[in-house]
Amino acid sequence: MKHLLKMSDMTREDILNVLDLADQLKYERKNGIAHPHLKGKKLGMIFQKSSTRTRVSFEVGMYELGGHALMLSGSELQLGRGEPIKDTARVLSRYLDGIMIRTFRQQDVEDLAKYGSIPIINGLTDYAHPCQVLADLLTIREKKGSLDGLKMAFIGDGFNMANSLIVGGIKTGMNVAIACPEGYDPDADIVKWANDSGRFTITRSVMEAAEGADVVFTDVWSSMGQEDEAAKRREAFGGVFQVNEELMKRTNDGCMVQHCLPAHRGEEITEDVFEAHADEIFEEAENRLHAQKALMVTLMK
Ligand code: CP
Ligand code: NVA
Repeated sequence: MKHLLKMSDMTREDILNVLDLADQLKYERKNGIAHPHLKGKKLGMIFQKSSTRTRVSFEVGMYELGGHALMLSGSELQLGRGEPIKDTARVLSRYLDGIMIRTFRQQDVEDLAKYGSIPIINGLTDYAHPCQVLADLLTIREKKGSLDGLKMAFIGDGFNMANSLIVGGIKTGMNVAIACPEGYDPDADIVKWANDSGRFTITRSVMEAAEGADVVFTDVWSSMGQEDEAAKRREAFGGVFQVNEELMKRTNDGCMVQHCLPAHRGEEITEDVFEAHADEIFEEAENRLHAQKALMVTLMK
């Protein structure tokens, strides 16, 4: 694995190796054991969308690994004035040891990897959010002991989170059920690949997806960049595509709830369900740090 552009770049073994290393780094951090595996390495962080978790966890992670992270806001780079990705890639490759990028088009991330000569990490595109899914799998495995055979239900928009959870869940042996409104399905190629696994269902019924789930995921109705569709999306998702008490009654005992955050209470999740599962959700947020440190060590050491 040279880059992490999308979950399908990782084999099952790659994923489990990163999770194992993340567990170890988390243990070491809790016990005050330093782990400067990336001493002297430089990570560029390009952001063309907002971020709290990704921004802070990558910068803190790089610091804790003995390296340095540079914040490169998209609007401040010449990229924001039209300098091509393929030129940016070749320039930054001469200064840095790795780049994390958050942007809109998946193709831009692929091009950065194609034209650059250093590891590229996707910190979220419209298509994928693989770093989040590594943290999610880490959190589920921590709580449930293993991933094989568990049922994951995703309720909501078939966007970046759904695309990456489907691939990550199936690769690690989980059964994945997606409930989304018509017109908001996940990527067609991912659905086709998932169908071939025999461990995937897609439905319009949230209750059917939630039936017997061990972990329930949701995501916002309107993602970054979709602000002008908010009214139309409220109509499509409202009153139905929500993680609430009724839905949780259909799940298995001890079912976890995960949310990549930020959450919109009263929309995709109720306040009650969110707060009842807050410990799991904030552990998931913390695990961004551990999973990404493991990923950076794997790619950049
Ligand atoms: N979950 C996530 O990626 O959060 P940020 O948008 O705050 O980085
Ligand atoms: N689907 C959301 C995830 C945010 C972490 C978005 O793209 O805005």
